[in-house]
Amino acid sequence: MLKFDFFTYTKNYITKNDLADLLDKKTEILQKFNTSNMIGWTKYPSNETIEKLIETSNKIKASSNCLVVLGIGGSFLGSYAFHNAFKKYFNDSSFEIIYAGTNLSSNYLNDLIDYIKNKEITLNVISKSGTTLEVMLAYKVLKNLLEEKYSKEEAQKRIFITTSEDNDLSKEVEEENLFLIPDDIGGRYSFITPAHLLPLSLNYDIRNILDAYFEGLTLIDEAYTYACIRHLLFKKGFYVENFSIYEESLSAFTEWLKQLFAETEGKNSKGILPISTINTRDLHSLGQFIQDGNKILFETFIKIAKSSSLTINNKELHIINNIVEDSVIKAHSKGNVACNIIELDYLSQENIAKLLAFFELSAAYSAYLFEVEPFNQPGVEIYKKEVKENLN
Ligand code: PA5
Repeated sequence: MLKFDFFTYTKNYITKNDLADLLDKKTEILQKFNTSNMIGWTKYPSNETIEKLIETSNKIKASSNCLVVLGIGGSFLGSYAFHNAFKKYFNDSSFEIIYAGTNLSSNYLNDLIDYIKNKEITLNVISKSGTTLEVMLAYKVLKNLLEEKYSKEEAQKRIFITTSEDNDLSKEVEEENLFLIPDDIGGRYSFITPAHLLPLSLNYDIRNILDAYFEGLTLIDEAYTYACIRHLLFKKGFYVENFSIYEESLSAFTEWLKQLFAETEGKNSKGILPISTINTRDLHSLGQFIQDGNKILFETFIKIAKSSSLTINNKELHIINNIVEDSVIKAHSKGNVACNIIELDYLSQENIAKLLAFFELSAAYSAYLFEVEPFNQPGVEIYKKEVKENLN
């Protein structure tokens, strides 16, 4: 279950009239959203796709003990966020997923090769465009490794590609090893596509994840209200949103959030800069600025009401963690920082899947409130073009 509080600690900065005006725009904003040709992520994937994913996952488990996922941005952050939220901090026994293709570090690739060379490897290359530099270079290197380690023929069986129909990358493998990202779904909204469901299928029941995600997509009112509150806070000069978490395993989730909001609304010199604090660690770092520094930011706290029952001095540690989080909300709001609270009853797969859907809706609504197109990322394309010119 998710609970939202967008009012208690923001009311000093938002007038009822301003909020009412934005809430009145809801029909117009939803109409823009509903008529976009990039909301394929609001349609449940076909049974055929889900069955192929489960079959493939069983095949991978039978032949391998690790899956190396090559993807960047929206092509890896969804599954990365979800998986990191649930794998154990230490001695994790889930099927090993290794993420690469997110940097151009030769040290990283060298160390990765050393680490995986004696394992049984499957590769999942994920790129909607099929041209992203980091991913394609890592693919080249790891394809060579697979061909040297196994035969060329066996390597082919161990490579799965997730991309768009008919691009060069899609032609690298047989149909059986190919998964498509639909044209009407952009990278950061592709959580319900094979881009994320294939890696997740190794450790989770993807039908349950999908069911929860689609429940999350019904949180239209909550997502729209959150978008309005953020917009009004922005208008009051709060240009930065700090996503504040008190469970470190959600730090990958905050990376996903940063990409979602930055690429969705950061356009035409508009948008709210998303940052994150991983607490209680960052109370001893950015906490000083947030409490006492330049008043440019508001916060969105992601609270988890109940977690494991470790007891210290007869007090459950998670209760202490919650008391600290509540105290910080109060202290920051006394320091003129507006705060939103999103509370999960537990850190469950269902709640995280719902939360992904909730944030996707609100990011898109928010972009429409800023009058920018949510589903492109022209800024990213500009740097890619520059790199291309300089590399040739
Ligand atoms: O959200 C997006 O669309 C981007 O972050 C892309 O996912 C990212 O640039 C990777 O692109 P591609 O999947 O084409 O390799």
